[in-house]
Amino acid sequence: MQAIICRDWGTPNDLKLEEISPPHPEANEVLIKVAASCVNYADTIMIAGRYQSRPDFPFAPGLEACGEVTKCGADVTRFKPGDRVMAFLGNGGFAEQATAEETDCFAVPDEMDDKIAASFLIGYVSSHVAIRWQAKLETGETLLVLGASGGVGLTAVEIGKALGATVIAGASTSGKLEIAQRHGADELINYKQDSLKQRVAEITCGIGTNVCYDPVGGDLFDEALSSLAWGGRILVIGFVGGIPQIPANRLLVKNRSAMGSSLRYYREFRPDLLHASVEELVSWWREGKLIPLISKEFPLEEVPAAMTELLERRAVGRIIINL
Ligand SMILES: NC(=O)c1ccc[n+]([C@@H]2O[C@H](COP(=O)([O-])OP(=O)(O)OC[C@H]3O[C@@H](n4cnc5c(N)ncnc54)[C@H](OP(=O)(O)O)[C@@H]3O)[C@@H](O)[C@H]2O)c1
Repeated sequence: MQAIICRDWGTPNDLKLEEISPPHPEANEVLIKVAASCVNYADTIMIAGRYQSRPDFPFAPGLEACGEVTKCGADVTRFKPGDRVMAFLGNGGFAEQATAEETDCFAVPDEMDDKIAASFLIGYVSSHVAIRWQAKLETGETLLVLGASGGVGLTAVEIGKALGATVIAGASTSGKLEIAQRHGADELINYKQDSLKQRVAEITCGIGTNVCYDPVGGDLFDEALSSLAWGGRILVIGFVGGIPQIPANRLLVKNRSAMGSSLRYYREFRPDLLHASVEELVSWWREGKLIPLISKEFPLEEVPAAMTELLERRAVGRIIINL
């Protein structure tokens, strides 16, 4: 089969399209004939050797995919050959075939196309577990989303609206903010032009935000932390702008909390909550509350170009690889 292969830590342009043997499913795994997969910022971190897990070489990157089950391991009970699934993968999504643990696979609704399914899980579930189970966002609260047009940021905007919050979107360009507005954001902040802290104070009449969803980090984290209301919660999601330090005194003075939220934790330790998240998200999608944005599509051999879109900060919504 054809796959995009990583043979050493490096950049997207070090990846090569190669002909390799297909993987074999373990007893608790299914083999998937991949129809589409999705590019995540984490793919770029993984191939650089800076991700939480460092697969043995050679490996195909790609953390999520959609396709048809072609083979099942002996212990698999929920799926059979011919079923359409969307799946979280340890890696291996940028290949014609991939294996996934049964527990990481979900049936694709008949009315959901392959491209939406391939990009549904990481984007929506990462944001849902963070906002719903970690921060416990309540109806009527204010949610500030940084990187609000990005892969996970845009889903956080939609999830905030589905939960009845007032959503303030932060992004670096007016075009990106327009996208966040089309997906439900009530208020917009261009944090490249304006002070995030000052604009949040204006919008919230000095009260601050109840929850901040932060996949960016870096200097913005400090401003976002200062912008939290009494009892506010900041969700530490990712560090595309750098890993920030947290001054403990600023947590104490307003009873604020900084909360890490990792999708990986839910996959390993709380699959019950993760499955509840997928169920709620699919029902919201059916009701039209979630409108996934696929902004670009690439063939398998152009995975390096697709990853570069994210690294060069041009991506909005999700970028898909068609197999
Ligand atoms: N904790 C979890 O469970 C979890 C799950 C999924 C992803 N993540 C993490 O979340 C982060 C975002 O992932 P993603 O797939 O959504 O990425 P993405 O689509 O590239 O979005 C990242 C956003 O960050 C902003 N940004 C600020 N500085 C940037 C820079 N130097 N380079 C690129 N973007 C920059 C961009 O918006 P502006 O230009 O508007 O600032 C961009 O839209 C990553 O760190 C990823 O590892 C965490």
